[in-house]
Amino acid sequence: MLTQENARLITEVGPDKPMGRLLREYWIPIVRAACLVAGGAPRRATILHQRLVAYRSPDGTVGVMNEACPHRGASMALARNEKGGLRCVYHGWKICHDGTLLEAPTHAASSQLTHIATGTYPAREAAGMVWAYLGSGTPPALPKLSFMSLPDDHVGVVMTKVRCSWLNMFESLWDSFHAQFLHSRTNRVIFAGAGRGREYFSDTKFDADQLAYDETTMSAALTEYGMQYENDDTAKRTTFAHVMPWFVHHPVGPRPTDDQACQGYVPIDDDHSLLIQWMFNPHAPLKADGYAHKFFDAITDPDDFASGLPRDGVWGQDREAIAQGSYHGLPVAGVMTIPYEDIAMGESQGRLDRTKENLGASDLVVIRGRTMLLEAVKAHQRGEPPLALNFDATQLRATFTSKASSAKEPA
Ligand code: FES
Ligand SMILES: [Fe+2]
Repeated sequence: MLTQENARLITEVGPDKPMGRLLREYWIPIVRAACLVAGGAPRRATILHQRLVAYRSPDGTVGVMNEACPHRGASMALARNEKGGLRCVYHGWKICHDGTLLEAPTHAASSQLTHIATGTYPAREAAGMVWAYLGSGTPPALPKLSFMSLPDDHVGVVMTKVRCSWLNMFESLWDSFHAQFLHSRTNRVIFAGAGRGREYFSDTKFDADQLAYDETTMSAALTEYGMQYENDDTAKRTTFAHVMPWFVHHPVGPRPTDDQACQGYVPIDDDHSLLIQWMFNPHAPLKADGYAHKFFDAITDPDDFASGLPRDGVWGQDREAIAQGSYHGLPVAGVMTIPYEDIAMGESQGRLDRTKENLGASDLVVIRGRTMLLEAVKAHQRGEPPLALNFDATQLRATFTSKASSAKEPA
C-alpha cells in the first residue's frame, strides 16, 4: 500500500504538481498523426489537465497550442486553418505554429503584440503520433525507442480514452498475474491457432469447487530507463520493459519474427488517460495475417478503439454468460476482448484508495513500479535530470519464451 501523500505524488498531474512538472519534461504523444488533415479541423486533446488543439497546416506542418485563444479564450478548435497559422474566428487573431502572433485586428499597432504569450508548443510527428513538448526551455530529442524510426509500413498505432488514472492502467500492465484469471480463457480460445494463445497462458481451472492456477515466479528491477520485469510460469517466460514515463514494451508472441508491441499511457487528467497501442515489426512490413493486422483490422475507430465497451456500471457484464461458462461475463469482442477486460478492471477501480489495499506476493511488480514512479518524481524535486530523458532504448524489447510442450488444450 501507499501513503496518501505518495499516492498523490504519482497520480496528480496538473501543472503545479510534482508529477505534472516531471511529465512536462518529456515529449508527449497526444493524437494520431493520421487524424490531422492538412488545412482541416484542429483536433481537441486534453493532456495533463491542459486543453489543447493539434492541427495540420495546409503545407503539412503540425502544430499544437492551447485550445483557448490568447485574446479572450474562444476555442481554437473552431479556428480557420489558414496558410501560416490558425485564425480565431471570434476577432481574427492569427497565430503561427512557432508562437508568432501574425495578426491581431483588435490591436491597432502591431508593436503592442510582441509580449503576448500565444500558448503554442513544439510539435513533431513520429511513429504515427503527433508529439508535443509542454515544458519550458529547449525540448529534448524525441524518445529513442525501437519503433520510432521504422518505415511507415512496419508500425501502426491506435488509441482510446480510458476513464481512470494512468496508474490504474500501468498497474494492470505490471501485474502479469491477473492474466491467468482475467484473460486466461479468453486468450486460450480467441488466439488458439494464431501463434499466440494456448501457449501464452497457463491452463487455469475455474471449477466452482476447485481453482487450479500457476504459482508464478516474478521479478522486477529498477533500471536506468525505468523498470525491467519478468514473469515465469508453466506456459512461458516473458520479460517486459517500462521506459519512463509512458512506454511499456509487452510481449505478443514467441517467434523472433512475430509482431511486437508497446503500450503507452498518458494522463488526460488525474482520472482519465490515453491508452496508446503501438504494434510494429522491426524485420518486415506488418503482414496481413500477423497479430498487428488482426488487431488493427478489428478496429472501427482508431482514435477511440475501445469506445464500444459499455460504460453501464458493469462494463457490459452478462450474468447469464457466467452461468453458461464464461469466467467473468464481460463482453466478448474478438481481439478487443482483452483490452476491454483490462479497461473494465481499471475503470472499475475508480479513484483507487491505495492506502486501503492488501497487497500480496503476486503484487511485487506493482510495488516496484510505484517505486519507480515515486523515485523519479522525488529525484526531479531534488533537481536531478528526468529519468530516461535521453536514454537510447532502441535495443530494448519485450521477450517471450514459450514452454509450449507443457501447454494443454483449452478446458
Ligand atoms: S477570442 Fe480569439 S480573437 Fe478574440
Ligand atoms: Fe491485462
